[in-house]
Amino acid sequence: MSRIAYVNGRYVRHAEAGISIDDRAANFGDGVYEVCEIRGGALIDEAQHLARLARSLGALRIAAPVGAAALRLILREVAARNRVRNGIVYLQVSRGVARRDHGFPAAVEPGLIVTAKSIDPRLGEANAARGVKVITLPDERWAHPDIKSLQLLPNVLAKQAAREAGAYEAWLIDADGFVTEGASTNAWIVAEDGALVTRHADRAILRGVTRTTLIEVAAREGARFEERAFSVPEALRAREAFLSSTTTIAMPIVAIDGQPIGEGKPGPVTLALRRRFHEMAARS
Ligand code: PDD
Repeated sequence: MSRIAYVNGRYVRHAEAGISIDDRAANFGDGVYEVCEIRGGALIDEAQHLARLARSLGALRIAAPVGAAALRLILREVAARNRVRNGIVYLQVSRGVARRDHGFPAAVEPGLIVTAKSIDPRLGEANAARGVKVITLPDERWAHPDIKSLQLLPNVLAKQAAREAGAYEAWLIDADGFVTEGASTNAWIVAEDGALVTRHADRAILRGVTRTTLIEVAAREGARFEERAFSVPEALRAREAFLSSTTTIAMPIVAIDGQPIGEGKPGPVTLALRRRFHEMAARS
């Protein structure tokens, strides 16, 4: 079965799908994106992903390429045509195609790409059973990581550095020595005193949909939760550390910069949050 992509109004074979060399997403990273989990055929936390998409589009003053109802249909159609029961659906909106000039083009139609892929859920479970390692790097991204934009070159370089160091993720450190987030995940610890801690959603991080749902899970479990910045030394002293995203859920971290966290194995709080996540997340 060949993969199918949606590109600007047409369903096309993935291998033959293409966009213009004048697409502003390619030339300037001038666009935004979302990734939504598909689990058992349902979209997880779809409304939150679409709300964040609207926010990102508004921040960059890009018009919505299609209405919300049409977009929901397209996401399902792409998932169905690719027979994805477990995996992700990816959507990317570009400001559009225009002769290359940095300023916004006068009249331009926004572009929309949607793809979907299957991911074997056993891969994530195997990683979660072992735990993953992260490294730390200075956060050299632009000043608006809160917008889910396509400006991902610093994130790409950070993720590659992590892989080359034998780690799963890189945690980015701000000028004051506090952890902002990972290259494609939010950052969490269970502090020495047992409090669950993740950075407040300021301009320095993306407000992860998974992060928001995990905060709700923690509240339901009666966990003590603090939304604040934490430093690398505090993380190294923590009982547990983990990362979160649509594709990883809550993923235990067993080492930071080569130093073991807690007992050097996945921690109970992280694993409980991971187990409970899909009870709380919205399915649609
Ligand atoms: N990444 N921070 C960054 C920089 C991210 O790119 C992501 C998601 C997150 C977590 O957000 P959410 O829980 O809504 O997935 C945090 C997606 C999965 C990606 O780029 O593939």
